[in-house]
Amino acid sequence: MLDLLVRGARLAPAAGGADQAAASAVDVHVSAGTVVGIEPASDHAPPAREVVDARGCLISPPYVEPHVHLDSVLTAGEPRWNESGTLWEGIACWTERKGMLTRQDVLDRVSEVLRWYVANGVLHVRSHVDVTDPGLVALDALVELRERARDVLDLQLVAFPQEGICSFPSGAELLEEAARRGVDAIGAIPHYEDTREDGVRSLEIAAEVATRYGLLLDVHCDEIDDEQSRFSEVLATLALRTGLTDRVTASHTTAMGSYNPAYSYKLRRILLRSGVNLVCNPLVNLHLQGRFDGYPKRRGLTQVKELLAAGVNVAFGHDDVMDPWYPLGTADPVLVAHVGAHATQLMSPAEVGECFRMVTDRAARVLGIADLYGVRPGVRADFLLLPAADPADVVRRLVRPSIVVSRGRIVAERAPAVARLRWPGADPEDVDFVRTRDARDATWRGGPAQGGGPAVDG
Ligand code: FE2
Repeated sequence: MLDLLVRGARLAPAAGGADQAAASAVDVHVSAGTVVGIEPASDHAPPAREVVDARGCLISPPYVEPHVHLDSVLTAGEPRWNESGTLWEGIACWTERKGMLTRQDVLDRVSEVLRWYVANGVLHVRSHVDVTDPGLVALDALVELRERARDVLDLQLVAFPQEGICSFPSGAELLEEAARRGVDAIGAIPHYEDTREDGVRSLEIAAEVATRYGLLLDVHCDEIDDEQSRFSEVLATLALRTGLTDRVTASHTTAMGSYNPAYSYKLRRILLRSGVNLVCNPLVNLHLQGRFDGYPKRRGLTQVKELLAAGVNVAFGHDDVMDPWYPLGTADPVLVAHVGAHATQLMSPAEVGECFRMVTDRAARVLGIADLYGVRPGVRADFLLLPAADPADVVRRLVRPSIVVSRGRIVAERAPAVARLRWPGADPEDVDFVRTRDARDATWRGGPAQGGGPAVDG
């Protein structure tokens, strides 16, 4: 007997594949926390302890958060608000708040936001954690939480030297100590170091520690509206020369939004050759960047459309949830993809679908988990049921998962959002913002019938 049977779902397309979901419905068989079979939908499926009738929902691997700062979540306004809205005042506020950190404070706040992530369908999270703290209070708490959360989600930790490696007292020693205490990746922040030379040196130190401890490398790189900030080329060159290649991620890279076309072209070549991943954080950088501009005011985002066209892997991250750098947020990757589509002008049907992949497959590549990621036999049973026609529909209507399955168990459920319309002179009707033609197309493709999400039995 199966532990879980999902009947009548449609597989979401993989990155770079077809834009449309698979036409025919499938049954997904789950045993012992693993997908053991994907078969054409059938009335003769094996018995299961729990049965979910997907009713044509899209079945997708879980969302992946490639970039967040969990140590600072839910601290917005403590001890004061970031009134200027700049990255720099955010760092100053955080430095004050950092002195108040305790283990319990970190555990309480991060546990709350991890519950939000799981409810939103995120089962892989990469979190930066500030290690420019001689006590490494947040790091130890997050290492503890990484273990506690393991039954539901996977957490990667990046040793992030928020106040610098070369420009902070004992910055390099703290980075190495963080590596010893068990992080998954090493970080850096070269544009924040006092001089360009310190910035280059900080990248060399970070790459050296990552190599020596066998860790990934994820750098806050060029998060500044300064067209002279050019550490991405240094990071990409280090990725090539050290052999770290696609184990390296350049996060933010907002200065790229200010580079001239000739330099941008040259940079994309080395980024592609190096294999590095990029992470764009549209919510937060739309808010933080351009703060020193009059008008015209820059968007302050990296060149997502051009990088994708060049063949570079790019993902979207949330970055902050209610902290000194960003006062809003619900840890929701669908909102990130939705805003990211606007902010980066990825608006053709195929491009909107690509925005969905930037919070799923492409983000999984950033985390280095692509081999273990997906809905297929032999892979851990982590997946979502989305009451949507296709990935672009998820992004347009901000469709949240009806069901989140982690390790073969349902860990979150949600009723589809439906408004009740009482048009004068007409019978009340439900409005779910599905365009009538989309619904007809989806039905033709074997897609979801009108009338909402999956039904659980068992
Ligand atoms: Fe960040």
